[in-house]
Amino acid sequence: MKTASVLDRSRQGFGGAAVFDPEFPDVAGTEWFPADEVRTAPIGLPELSELEVVRHFTGLSHGVHGVDSGPYPLGSCTMKYNPKRNDALARLDGFARAHPRQPADTLQGLWDLSLDLQRFIAELTGMDAVSLQPAAGAHGELAGLLIMRKYFAERGEPRRIILIPDSAHGTNPASAAMVGYECKIIPTTPDGLMDLAAMDRLLDRNVAGLMLTNPSTLGLFEENITRIGQRVHDQGALLYYDGANLNALMGIVRPGDMGFDLVHINVHKTLSTPHGGGGPGAGPVGVKAFLEPYLPVPVIRRVAGRAVPDHDRPSTIGKIKTHFGHTEVLVKAYCYVLTVGALGLKTATENAVLNANYLQAKLADLLPPVFHERCMHECLLSGGTLKVSPFDFVKRLIDFGVHPPTLVGAGCVHFAKQYEAAMLIEPTETESLPSLDSMIEKFRKVAREAAVAPYMIETAPHTTAVAKIIKDQAAYISLLEATTP
Ligand SMILES: Cc1ncc(COP(=O)(O)O)c(C=O)c1O
Repeated sequence: MKTASVLDRSRQGFGGAAVFDPEFPDVAGTEWFPADEVRTAPIGLPELSELEVVRHFTGLSHGVHGVDSGPYPLGSCTMKYNPKRNDALARLDGFARAHPRQPADTLQGLWDLSLDLQRFIAELTGMDAVSLQPAAGAHGELAGLLIMRKYFAERGEPRRIILIPDSAHGTNPASAAMVGYECKIIPTTPDGLMDLAAMDRLLDRNVAGLMLTNPSTLGLFEENITRIGQRVHDQGALLYYDGANLNALMGIVRPGDMGFDLVHINVHKTLSTPHGGGGPGAGPVGVKAFLEPYLPVPVIRRVAGRAVPDHDRPSTIGKIKTHFGHTEVLVKAYCYVLTVGALGLKTATENAVLNANYLQAKLADLLPPVFHERCMHECLLSGGTLKVSPFDFVKRLIDFGVHPPTLVGAGCVHFAKQYEAAMLIEPTETESLPSLDSMIEKFRKVAREAAVAPYMIETAPHTTAVAKIIKDQAAYISLLEATTP
């Protein structure tokens, strides 16, 4: 069904009520807004009444599934709820209206906040220095790998290889390739851990580093981590921590204490800020002291009691983001840490792990766990015993208000081939027990339906603005007619 677009509905002369601030200075022609850069012609936006605009955006928001509308157990993506108080705090004028080019004296509060947040992240990850600049997890990886390359270049060691387990997120090899490294892939053993013998065969002095996600995207803790770190370091290589799954460890164990030399964290996964997908995110990168000179510029430092951006750093990898990173997102991360405190972070981790294990245990008869031991903050469940394709099964969950969990082939490259029919489910700590029980019941409902009306599942979802492309369109329409009251 096609509805009139907001552009079609535009009528000349329509608009909402504008309220002007009489005290707002006329800035045209000042040093910040040169006269020849000030817009003079209309911008060409659709002309609509306020009510039409409100309905337009409300309609769009109803068409989207987000954590605010229902559970979003998208494994590895950690879609946890972002408390609204953090949004309210980030909207305070001093943050929301700050301009990166305003005089340094007026940015002291924001830079103080950045210094504190850097300290929190360093403490949480066990690193010595942190840069808040990267705009997403993948951007943090890029920054980390550039740091690695610069470090070896300064040592006169042209190492060319990055080792990556086959369970890694696709951004790991992509980032390594962007930095000019060759990737070598380490297989996973049948028990879901990285194959140490295969790693040993690949490790030599040509290897710059090993990128590892711990717990892995199979939901398992890499229990050989100390040994892995030792062997990597024996070859003079570095151990990189992809912090996407830090939500399973924060407040309990730190990558820096496990032997990692540098990390990135995805604040949207760990510190409860909105996910970057299409909008602003943040992926701070942390390093041990010996890598600190390579951090991106500017680094905010405190000099004689004042926060100052330091650009004069000869070994830096340079600038990787305009100004100081995505400040608004970082303010939310800061508020989250301060409002939940150290104990709250630890409790979040414990609940994230508990929730995933609860789901794994309760669904075991329907979706047997791929690995039989306990999982960390996400569980990998086999869909091989379902009466319908797991790809169709998860789409039907949308009709019951649950976002599909991560699946192989659904646009992600998380898993090796052998887990093809598996679902990676991450409920997160923000789902309550009743919410988990209701989610479990919805999985069961779809399974029951699969036994009697598989076509309903094969053609799902039925409640979304965009449908699946259906092979037998005529049969689908008659099904709809028969089932629609
Ligand atoms: C394990 C892992 N690493 C890296 C990333 C990339 O993070 P971002 O989406 O913030 O770029 C993800 C994202 O889902 C991930 O799951």
